[in-house]
Amino acid sequence: MSWDIEKIKNDVAADVNAAEVLDALEAVRVKYLGKKGLVQEMYAGLATASPEEKKTLGKGANDIKVLADALIAQRKPLLAATVKRAQALDVTMPGVAREPGTQHLITQTIEEICDVFERLGFVIQRGPEVETEFYNFTALNIPLDHPSRDSFDTFYLDEKDPTAAGRYLLLRSHTSPGQVRVMQKHKPPLAVIIPGKVYRPDAVDASHAFMFHQIEGLLVDKHVTFADLKGLLTAFCKKFFGDDVKMRFRPHFFPFTEPSAEVDIQSNIFKGRAGKWLEILGCGMVHPAVFAHAGYPPGEYSGLAFGLGVERIAMLRHGIGDIRTFTENDLRVLKQF
Ligand code: PHE
Repeated sequence: MSWDIEKIKNDVAADVNAAEVLDALEAVRVKYLGKKGLVQEMYAGLATASPEEKKTLGKGANDIKVLADALIAQRKPLLAATVKRAQALDVTMPGVAREPGTQHLITQTIEEICDVFERLGFVIQRGPEVETEFYNFTALNIPLDHPSRDSFDTFYLDEKDPTAAGRYLLLRSHTSPGQVRVMQKHKPPLAVIIPGKVYRPDAVDASHAFMFHQIEGLLVDKHVTFADLKGLLTAFCKKFFGDDVKMRFRPHFFPFTEPSAEVDIQSNIFKGRAGKWLEILGCGMVHPAVFAHAGYPPGEYSGLAFGLGVERIAMLRHGIGDIRTFTENDLRVLKQF
């Protein structure tokens, strides 16, 4: 049998180029280089070949083997890349499921509390988290030497206060500065709630965090009394904690309210806290000095104000023992609410 070496070489090149997928290329390899392939057939032919033929046939078989090896090795990565591209475009592949998240418990609690006050006619307002000493302290009748101005109790920024020479901006330590901002913009009668983040450099433990949330309330009109304050907060507590919640107004001091009180509550729904008084807010009648800083004429208005601790309330309601739970982002916890 005679072999046309040059034609076979051309066939190898044509076959390799014609292979469009890896399987086809493998078939070409088997055709030429497999155990029963053409090259093996040529080697077998050597046994019956004349000495002259042996020379060209042996060399031809080797050349074809080397050529087929090289061309296949060259084409293989090209076809492999095509496979990858095809997979990337496989529109029949199942998608990656995204689990819907839930609202954070703190956000839920803020919305629920605001909801109660909105039904009572209050309007939601927001104030900045970066404040000036004027709004956070001075306008609230907190004197320059009051300990809460100390950098141990307030986070001061490196940024200078553009409204007061030599003073620095700070992170608000309560939502009360919002009271003054609202009063500067609006005339009574007004009823607002101001929810938001506040910051204090407290040592972090189970009940203290650097950042927590408060909801400020402010109602100003001509004849607002302490009875209005009691009535309003009692209505809120009953709506929020249930009709059988027990409340007490404990006398307290705040520079920006007079008289001032803190409200404690007791409820059987607070797991493991039955019979214990738990503080949830500070409140009082707006101090005349605050009205003066807001630009209201003296003697004309009276007002009530309160500041609720959101984390505290959420912890009581859901039996959460550690305030750090809210910021740990543990999905096992977050998914429960
Ligand atoms: N701002 C007070 C606090 O953070 C709470 C408060 C608000 C008290 C309004 C009285 C009136 O402790």
